[in-house]
Parts: sequence; structure tokens; C-alpha cells
Amino acid sequence: MIAARGLERTFPGRHGAVEAVRGVDLDVAEGEVLGLLGRNGAGKTTTVRMLTTLLDPTAGTARVAGHDVVTERREVRRRIGLVGQGGAAGSEHRVVDELRTQARLHGLGRREAAERAARMCADFGLEGLEHRLAKTLSGGQRRRLDIALGLVSRPQVLFLDEPTAGLDPHSRAAVWEHVRSLRTEHGVTVFLTTHYLDEADQICDRITVVDEGRVIADDTPEALKDATAGDTVVIATRQVAEAAVAVGRAVPGGRVDKAADAVQVRVVEARRRLADILRELDHAGVDVESVLVKRPSLDDVFLTLTGRSMHEQHAQPDQNEPRERRGQRGGGGTSRTASEAAESPEPAGGTGAATASDGPAPGTAARPVPAARAASPAAAGAAARPAATGTATATPREDQ
Ligand SMILES: Nc1ncnc2c1ncn2[C@@H]1O[C@H](COP(=O)(O)OP(=O)(O)OP(=O)(O)O)[C@@H](O)[C@H]1O
Ligand SMILES: [Mg+2]
Repeated sequence: MIAARGLERTFPGRHGAVEAVRGVDLDVAEGEVLGLLGRNGAGKTTTVRMLTTLLDPTAGTARVAGHDVVTERREVRRRIGLVGQGGAAGSEHRVVDELRTQARLHGLGRREAAERAARMCADFGLEGLEHRLAKTLSGGQRRRLDIALGLVSRPQVLFLDEPTAGLDPHSRAAVWEHVRSLRTEHGVTVFLTTHYLDEADQICDRITVVDEGRVIADDTPEALKDATAGDTVVIATRQVAEAAVAVGRAVPGGRVDKAADAVQVRVVEARRRLADILRELDHAGVDVESVLVKRPSLDDVFLTLTGRSMHEQHAQPDQNEPRERRGQRGGGGTSRTASEAAESPEPAGGTGAATASDGPAPGTAARPVPAARAASPAAAGAAARPAATGTATATPREDQ
């Protein structure tokens, strides 16, 4: 459903070019949920923007839902949904109108659009807010509307760029629940990025880890954990020295660490080695108080692969990143309303306008536009409102 080969994107920068994505290959099967993980600045959003036709690759190719993201942009847009990192919902229009309009733009009939809009409000805790102007919603409520907008048309492929950033735990769970049901009930292919590794672990069939614009690992969460991090076996005992020797014998080549009253060792598939470890401890006459086997987390995988924990990143802003982008972290990206965006169509720093080939129609950044929108004057008229409202945020922010 998604196939990318040698995808690259370079941005010109004041201190030299920024190589955001440096030759990424990706394959996502139909109905698969793929999680793209990486630290701030690793190239995730840039990859998502290329796959959703919002940004042309500097090199390489990609096909999404059977169409080329550069030469068949319109065909791709018709089949995908996007919840962009920047968010979209902040308009002067009512929540329910935003949802219905979005559904209509993707070709749903009036009745179905109304039904889908109501369903989205129910699923994403927007009931009671249907008639509020989108711009008056709280940050978390707006993010939920963003997600509802991305899903309302039931796309074949759904891109979610940090969909749950800034949401409370209850809302996060609701989003993931919905993503799960999209996959199981409708076979939707999902491409998501998130910094919540425990959630990625639970929801993703496959994880691709990117670092500095390159793929450094790609496998199921379980295989990644087994292959890169292994389990940790912790043996609590007062005879630390003897225990360390015994454990070393049971796990040749394994790294054995000693603490005041415990010994721990990293081992792949601990359940297969536990009997050996306990036998050696017994032979050595070690009095074992407790044994604990800890499965690695995806954060352990991350640490092993990159030498840094995923959670360290928030303290270390990416120096390549333009200042106006850095300021938007952590709040779910909904900091700017459509009306603010409309007032300043270029970002403060003005790091460059979209090129003609990159340029999506205004307002397409957050929600890919069905072909009909550009194809006829009537459709263009219908598109005018949402283009000028809910989607305006992403275009000026995501400068080229
Ligand atoms: N429009 C742009 N102009 C210049 N550099 C850019 C632009 N967009 C992205 N970059 C740079 O490309 C690199 C990758 O950015 P990208 O937004 O893809 O990262 P990310 O993995 O999504 O990070 P985050 O986790 O913070 O969202 C960063 O160094 C970033 O500063
Ligand atoms: Mg990003």
C-alpha cells in the first residue's frame, strides 16, 4: 500500500543544507499499522509530508495506494487521510460543519456525511461541542477534532503524525481504539508517528526506527526487542560475587552487572535460559531471594540502537530546526489558529515559500484534497470554505 525507494529530502539552510531524509526505503502492506519512530528532527514529518504529496522528494520515489506521490498527486490524495503534526482545526466554523464538509469533499453523500460526522463526534468525545466554533475548543479538543477530520472520510491509507501529542490519557486511549477498529473492521492501512513508545508497542504491527534521516531498524516490536535489547534477568541475593560468577557461566558472553544486593544479566529470550541460570546458581550454593525477568521496552530498543533514550530528546532541541518550529513542540501542535495563520501566511522567520511543484493548494497540508476539489469550478467553490478555515494552519507553518 506504501512503497518508498531511496526517498530523500534536503532543505536549504543558512548554515548549509539540512539533509532531513537520506535514502529511506519503506514497504507497508495493506491493512498494516506501521509506526515510524525517531527523535525530534529524525525526519518523520518530512517523510510523512512526502508520502502525502505535500512535499516533493529531492530524490527517490514513493507510491501510495497504487499511485506515485509526485506524478499522480491527485489520485493519492483521494485515497488518503492525514492528521498532520501541525493540526488543522481552528476555524471560524462549527465543529459539525467542519466534519460534514470534509466528508463531502471526499465524495460522501449528504446523509452519509452527516452520519459519519455524528459518529466521529461520539467516538472522539466531541458530543456537546458540535455547534461550537472550532477555534473556541481547548487544545486537546481541537486535536481530537483534527483526528476526527482525518478519519471522517474513511480513507484507504491513514497518516497520523503524532496524533496523540497533548491529549490526556483517556483521549489517547480513544484514538488508539479507533485506529485499531479502522484496521480490524475496515482494513485501513495506518502509517503513524508517535513518541509514546508503549503505545506504539501495543498498536503497531511493525516499527521502523529512523535516525538522522535513515532507517536504522525495521521489524515487529517483539522481534526488535528480542534482537536489539534482550531481556534482563535480575537475581536478588546477598552473595553477589558468587552469583555473578555463576550467572557468567550460565550465559557465556552475557554482560553481568553487580549491585549491592543483586546481579543482573541481559539475555535474549530469557525464558529459555532461566533454568540454566538457576542451575548454576544452585551448584554454586548461592542463596537466591528472588528472580525477576524484565522484558525490554521499545525505549530499551531505542537506547540500544541510537545510544540515547527517546525521552532525552525533549531536553535537546534540534539545532537544525528553525526557531519557529521548535517553539511548537509538546503542545500537540495546535498552537496556531486558522485566523492567526490567515493573518500571517508566511511564518515569522520566512524560511522560504513553497515551490510550484511542491505547492499543495492552500489548506491541503492537513487534509489531502479529493481530486474533485480542483477539478471543477463547483468543487472549487465548495472547497473554498474549508481551505480558508480549518486547514490553513498547516500550510504556513510547514514551510518548505
Ligand atoms: N521547511 C524546513 N526547512 C528547513 N529545515 C527543515 C524544514 N522542515 C524540516 N526541516 C529539518 O529537517 C529535519 C527533520 O525534520 P522533521 O520535521 O522531519 O523531524 P521529525 O522527525 O518529524 O521531528 P519531531 O519529532 O520533532 O516532529 C530537522 O532537522 C528539521 O529542522
Ligand atoms: Mg515531526
